[in-house]
Amino acid sequence: MEAQRSFIGVVVKRGFQGIVAAVVMWLASRYLFHFPPVFQVMFVLYALLGTGVFILLDAPSLSPVSGIKAIALLVGFYVVVSLVFIAGASALPQYDPMVEKGKIEKIVKPKLAATEKGKIEELLKRTKELDAESQAILKRLETLGGEKAKRIEASIGGGASAGAAPRAGGGNLVALGKEQYELQECYNCHKIGGKGSVKKRGPVLDNIGNLMKTEEMKEKLLNPRAWMAEGFEKEYNKKLMPDKYKELMSDQEIDALVAYLSTLKDASVQTPKPVKKL
Ligand code: HEC
Repeated sequence: MEAQRSFIGVVVKRGFQGIVAAVVMWLASRYLFHFPPVFQVMFVLYALLGTGVFILLDAPSLSPVSGIKAIALLVGFYVVVSLVFIAGASALPQYDPMVEKGKIEKIVKPKLAATEKGKIEELLKRTKELDAESQAILKRLETLGGEKAKRIEASIGGGASAGAAPRAGGGNLVALGKEQYELQECYNCHKIGGKGSVKKRGPVLDNIGNLMKTEEMKEKLLNPRAWMAEGFEKEYNKKLMPDKYKELMSDQEIDALVAYLSTLKDASVQTPKPVKKL
């Protein structure tokens, strides 16, 4: 009787402390640390849970039990605690991966779309700039004087060998091709005008326009095995020139690059002779 009365006292005392702790934690988490409401609730629950534990610790000891009864009580206790725990946990807000995924998609999609759009706009702008540049050059050539300018214009427009080069865009195409040469980093292995390939991995290309027809250059780019530069047997056998441009480049880009290479006709620079292989 005595023990029971003092236990009621303990419950009241611990209960009061627990409520104070819960209120303090709620106020602190909300106003001091600005936790979201879910966490505020969680902290309050923790305070109440702790109160329960302290009350249990102070509870008068039970009379000892043994044998089957003890095991049954233990299992029973385990089941009750597990049920309470599961019920409590499932009452809390649940994390749903699909909801999170949806959120992420909502954030990322417009950004992706924006960058794609940005890229295309950038390319269009660049094309316009190049077009304006080549127009300006052609105008300047025209003011230089009649026939001569016409001839130069024709040679830019026609690229090189036997008029086989694509005509579309003329100087524009050559400029785009030069840009492709930079973008595809051909300069890593090749030299033009003394620039590029510090390590001399591949042949200089200064006179390639006189040595290869446009179709042959295209063949070389689409399949590097098709041609071999004379004196570069070792490099050819090691397959040094990458076999990736047919995947990386569009037909138009290849055409532009070839149009640019066709303009390289500096016979004073020793350029290795291309040998047909396949
Ligand atoms: C990793 C180095 C490497 C890169 C990058 C590379 N090449 Fe080559 N290229 C070579 C080597 C080595 C040879 C000589 C052996 C052979 O013909 O395969 C060669 C040969 C050539 C030839 C024939 C030259 C001749 O005189 O016969 C052409 C044309 C050519 N490359 C163009 C290009 C273009 C255009 C690009 C960029 C799209 C490019 N290469 C990128 C290594 C490279």
